[in-house]
Amino acid sequence: MILDTLLINCGQLLTMDYATDLVKGEQMNELPFIENGAIGWKNGVIQYIGTTEEAETIERLNTIDCEGKLVTPGLVDPHTHLVFGGSREHEIAMKQQGVPYLEILKQGGGIHSTVQATRDTTFEDLLNKANFHLNRLISYGVTALEAKSGYGLEKETELKQLRVVKELQSSRNVPIASTFLGAHAVPRNTNPDVFLSEMESMFAMLKEEDLASFVDIFCEEGVFTIEQSRSYLTKAKEAGFSVKIHADEIVSLGGTELAIELEAASADHLIAASDQAVEWFGRSETVAVLLPGTTFYLNKESYAKARDIINYGGAVALATDFNPGSSPTENIQFIMNLAMLKLKMTCEEIWNAVTVNAAKAIGMEGIAGRLQVGRRADVIIWNAPNYQYVPYHYGVNHTNTVFINGKEAAK
Ligand code: NIG
Ligand code: FE
Repeated sequence: MILDTLLINCGQLLTMDYATDLVKGEQMNELPFIENGAIGWKNGVIQYIGTTEEAETIERLNTIDCEGKLVTPGLVDPHTHLVFGGSREHEIAMKQQGVPYLEILKQGGGIHSTVQATRDTTFEDLLNKANFHLNRLISYGVTALEAKSGYGLEKETELKQLRVVKELQSSRNVPIASTFLGAHAVPRNTNPDVFLSEMESMFAMLKEEDLASFVDIFCEEGVFTIEQSRSYLTKAKEAGFSVKIHADEIVSLGGTELAIELEAASADHLIAASDQAVEWFGRSETVAVLLPGTTFYLNKESYAKARDIINYGGAVALATDFNPGSSPTENIQFIMNLAMLKLKMTCEEIWNAVTVNAAKAIGMEGIAGRLQVGRRADVIIWNAPNYQYVPYHYGVNHTNTVFINGKEAAK
């Protein structure tokens, strides 16, 4: 077989080649890599992983000398709100005056403001905007991700958002997990239980049209209670969805315990998670998806307890939470910097959190987050001499070349 492309002299080639789909506890501090590695592919599928020395005789059309640079799997972003209309810079002054996030929401701003903008934006314009943000995520090294709805809060606009995701799934060569977040806020002057039954009534159709794999809910003070979340997600599970929770983001309600109880694919945010919940991750397959960019942007002092979750044996993933309100950034590398600085995660833990564990959190353990022969060639060459360098040197983009399915992504 003649390969299309062979990368040689990869200073460190991170393979994330574990025997399991999820890396938990102490194991998160390991990082399988090959020194002076080589990796080659044909028709977008990896055919060789090994050392440069052993790769010398491999026949190939194109050789790229990485000159000692770091090479890794494409990164996985397991929590984004990719599709939305408008933006929220008009809320900067309120934010600076210290008006809390939930107060802005209560006053009809925040998520409600983006809901209005999303209702007012056509399918085509939403699609163009989502493509723009997706290209930016890719430029920072993301080659697989999750995208949520949740800026419709009514059937028609929720469907419009999910159909944009479906269009992206078929038109872009990037795996995208679609999540129905109809339960993102309670529309003004609406009874939350009546609203939740309206969202539940969409489950069957979403399954039929394959518009979502996950159902998510914002379980938070002033939004949805634990009881409402339990009942809603139980119905989602019965309808065949995997579930996720925006849990304990601001107030400690017990959404994290609920996610573990429901065997959710992930529990996300967790800044205010209780000590008990943190401990439970050790006995659970639910991934703790941490979003330090949101804590940073909400100007909070205390961050999610990544160290405790890992010390109790849990699995942590990291994500941008890209959205127009609490985390307007597509820069997953900045999230890695914050994880080093604020979550006190080791560099090894950080790389596991943006690859193998992130893939597991969105059901993509079979296709993303690891380099193995037979898998998609989603590969990044970094302008970095080693894996510690990326979480260390902050505020710039370190990608040199992003390969998606073996092809170089446009810069
Ligand atoms: O993950 N907390 C709820 N949802 C998003 C923010 C959405 C928004 O503010 O537009 C989050 O932080
Ligand atoms: Fe979110």
